[in-house]
Amino acid sequence: MLNNRKILSDSMKEVDRVKYYNVSEIFGMLHNRLSQDEIKDHFRTGKIHGIKIEDQWYAKKEAIDEFEEEVINTDIYFSELHQIDLTKIQLKGRILDIGGGGEGIIGQFAGPHVISIDPSERELKEAPSDCVKIIMNGKDLKFLDDTFDSITLFFTMMYIPISDHNKVFKEIYRVLKSKGNLFLWELTIPKRPETDKDIFAIKLEVDIGDKKISTGYGTRWGKKFDMGHYLDLGKRIGFKIIEKEVNGETFFIKYLKD
Ligand SMILES: C[S@@+](CC[C@H](N)C(=O)[O-])C[C@H]1O[C@@H](n2cnc3c(N)ncnc32)[C@H](O)[C@@H]1O
Repeated sequence: MLNNRKILSDSMKEVDRVKYYNVSEIFGMLHNRLSQDEIKDHFRTGKIHGIKIEDQWYAKKEAIDEFEEEVINTDIYFSELHQIDLTKIQLKGRILDIGGGGEGIIGQFAGPHVISIDPSERELKEAPSDCVKIIMNGKDLKFLDDTFDSITLFFTMMYIPISDHNKVFKEIYRVLKSKGNLFLWELTIPKRPETDKDIFAIKLEVDIGDKKISTGYGTRWGKKFDMGHYLDLGKRIGFKIIEKEVNGETFFIKYLKD
C-alpha cells in the first residue's frame, strides 16, 4: 500500500494521493493539547488510526478529526460563553499580531494594517484574514528595533511555554516604538476541581464591528493561572500597565512602552 509515496514537507507524506501527517504536525493540529509522547501512545493503542512509515507514525486528516471528536473533545471542560468587544480597542499605526494563525481575529479586525506572524504555516493559511502573513516565531522576531506602533497577543501566550514568556516579551518590547502599545487577551485558568477533564477551554464571541465571530481556545488544565503573571512579566521588561480588565475567565491588559 505504501507505493506512490512522496514527501511533501519534512513532516507530511503522501501515499496514493492521500496526505498523511506525522506526530509533530498532529501536535500542532491538536493545538498542543497533548504532548507528542501522548500522541504516540494513542497511535500504539489504536485510538488514532495510523500507519508506520520508516518507523514513524502517520495519520490522515479524517483519522485525526475522528480522534479529536471522539477522544479529545470529551476531555474538555468548557467555561460559559464570553463576549469580547474589539470595537472599543484603538489599534493605531503599524500593527504586529503575534500568533495570528487559527482564527486570525486581529487580522480580521484590522486587516491591511496588520502583519501577522506565527511559526505554523498551516495556522497562518487557515486564518481567514486579509493581512500580510509571515512564518516567524515570537521568540525571535526578524524586525528591526522600534518598528511597530501596536502589538497584539490574542490568546497566543497560552500556547507558548512559560519558560519562553520572558523572551517573547523582550522581543515585543524591542520591536515596539516608544509610546507604542502592547494589547494582550488571555485566559484565567481556575484551580482544577475534582474532574476528569484535562483541558480547560473557553467559548468566545468576538465583536469586530461588521460581524461577531464565534470561536474558542483551550489549554491543558495544569496550574492555576491569572493576570498577575502578565502584569509582573510586563513590568519586569519595562512596560507600564495603562489598562487592565477582567471579564469572567478572560482578561485584557494594555501596556505602554514609555
Ligand atoms: C489559539 S491559537 C490562535 C490565536 C489567534 N491569535 C486567533 O486570533 O485565533 C495560538 C497561536 O499561537 C501560535 N504560537 C505558538 N507558539 C508561538 C510562538 N512561539 N510565537 C508565535 N506564535 C506562536 C500557534 O501556532 C497558534 O496559531
